[in-house]
Amino acid sequence: MKNQEATEKRRTFGIISHPDAGKTTLTEKLLLFGGAIQTAGAVKNNKIKKTATSDFMEIEKQRGISVATSVMAFKYNGKQINILDTPGHKDFAEDTFRTLTAVDSVILVIDCANGVEEQTERLMEVCRMRKTPVIIFINKLDRDGKEAFDLLDELEKVLAIKVCPLTWPIGMGDRFQGVYNIYRKGLNLFAANKTKISEDVLSFENLDDPKLDDILGEAPANELREELEMIEGVYDPFQREEYLAGDMAPVFFGSAVNNFGVKELLDTFCEISPSPRGRTSDLRFIHPNEDKFSGFVFKIHANLDPKHRDRIAFLRIVSGKFERNQFYYHVRSDKKMKFPNPTSFMAQDKSVIDEAFPGDVVGLYDSGNFKIGDTLTEGEKMMYQGIPSFSPEIFQELENLDPMKSKQLDKGIRQLIDEGVAQLFIQQPGNRKIVGTVGQLQFEVINYRLIHEYGANCRFVPKNYVKACWITSSDEEELQRFHRVKSNHMALDKDENWVFLAETPFLLSMAEQDYTKITFHKSSEFKLQRSV
Ligand code: G4P
Repeated sequence: MKNQEATEKRRTFGIISHPDAGKTTLTEKLLLFGGAIQTAGAVKNNKIKKTATSDFMEIEKQRGISVATSVMAFKYNGKQINILDTPGHKDFAEDTFRTLTAVDSVILVIDCANGVEEQTERLMEVCRMRKTPVIIFINKLDRDGKEAFDLLDELEKVLAIKVCPLTWPIGMGDRFQGVYNIYRKGLNLFAANKTKISEDVLSFENLDDPKLDDILGEAPANELREELEMIEGVYDPFQREEYLAGDMAPVFFGSAVNNFGVKELLDTFCEISPSPRGRTSDLRFIHPNEDKFSGFVFKIHANLDPKHRDRIAFLRIVSGKFERNQFYYHVRSDKKMKFPNPTSFMAQDKSVIDEAFPGDVVGLYDSGNFKIGDTLTEGEKMMYQGIPSFSPEIFQELENLDPMKSKQLDKGIRQLIDEGVAQLFIQQPGNRKIVGTVGQLQFEVINYRLIHEYGANCRFVPKNYVKACWITSSDEEELQRFHRVKSNHMALDKDENWVFLAETPFLLSMAEQDYTKITFHKSSEFKLQRSV
């Protein structure tokens, strides 16, 4: 297949949500539609269970299993769909942020009763920053929730994005009758627990058609007419360019568990969502249709089984064709490498592939050569940018308890940082290692792995920092002054960028007020913005 043809067929996206909104259920239904799985429950079984939060080994075990569902590929309507799994567990939020660098668009799932929740906001911030096109699926319409108009208001206000409903619910909870498809002008009637995968849509070009009253009842039909009129007055019509630019989010209503509204979501997704996009490197923008292969590693999955210490590096292909057993250039280490067993993932099955195209994700077996963000090319010396680090929320100092094992500790912590388990900040004097994470769970994981995999003996001492901000300034003098005054709170990240460790939000805002010529970045994404 020609590269360009293959690229145009691909759709690589992520489903994101606050835990419990229905991401797993929706993923599963999409896979059922695509024929990638035959029975419900296949994805669900791999889900990290919330009840197990205190048992990190259990979570890691489940995370291990979920390698198979890291990418779920299937064919639908002539398209090759790649769903990239994003862990819903808050403590693995960094994983999700990184995965968002490898997708070309996202579907955001909202629970109609809860509206926009904390995790939704944070995930959308990342999408906004990257201008990722977003489709919103408002789920659980079979239950009572907030009014549809209120939900749209909330989405616009809290997520700061223009919304455009493409379907509209008729009733809710017990009175839920289905949705009117504004985009296709048809009525999709609700039936609970739909098992068949087609959705019958009754065409209604003219809403004054009395048949609408016969089907819905006079009052609900009139209400629908009024609401649709209001929508026309309030919301701009759907513009694909605006959606592709990340400025407008089309909205669908449905009930994932009842398989309702899922097909129209998928059909519209196939029609409007972007094919694989290029990415910015430190040299130039790389277009997917370029002949030469290139890609970047956005995720590394370690095997916790001490007998199999291999890791899997997940590579997103950006341009050209990736081929098995070809030598490729690993830019950071300036070495050539070849991969005899590149793996693709089809729902629960892994298989060795011979070739892959832009938008595809392949798993590369790795014995410790890869870091998150690494670039592979056919020889060009360029690095993809923008695998962002976000400010951690919990900080602890790593203390070595056995001076004879400091080498092991050093190697171990650096490898875990390369995998993206946590962030490391080095403070002077004394090369003090401050480890930052988004969840308490990671400290348990790191401690366990340092002891069991590297034979180190260490402990964590809590530090009272709340945020790490990357700092930049065009005023060298002010920067020097800041370094002098705040020397006890300064540290270097893994790429030797300076960060300011703030003890309270108040002290951070004071610093921002006192040093107006310094920019305090909440994520390392500023490096990408600088170079675009
Ligand atoms: P998540 O991945 O976003 O965390 O959510 P998940 O799909 O696991 O869904 C969370 C809960 O919401 C599940 O119930 C699921 O069955 C339910 N759910 C998903 N979609 C709908 C829907 O359209 N309507 C209703 N009423 N519920 C929905 P659970 O009790 O946690 O799990 P289970 O026992 O049903 O498996």
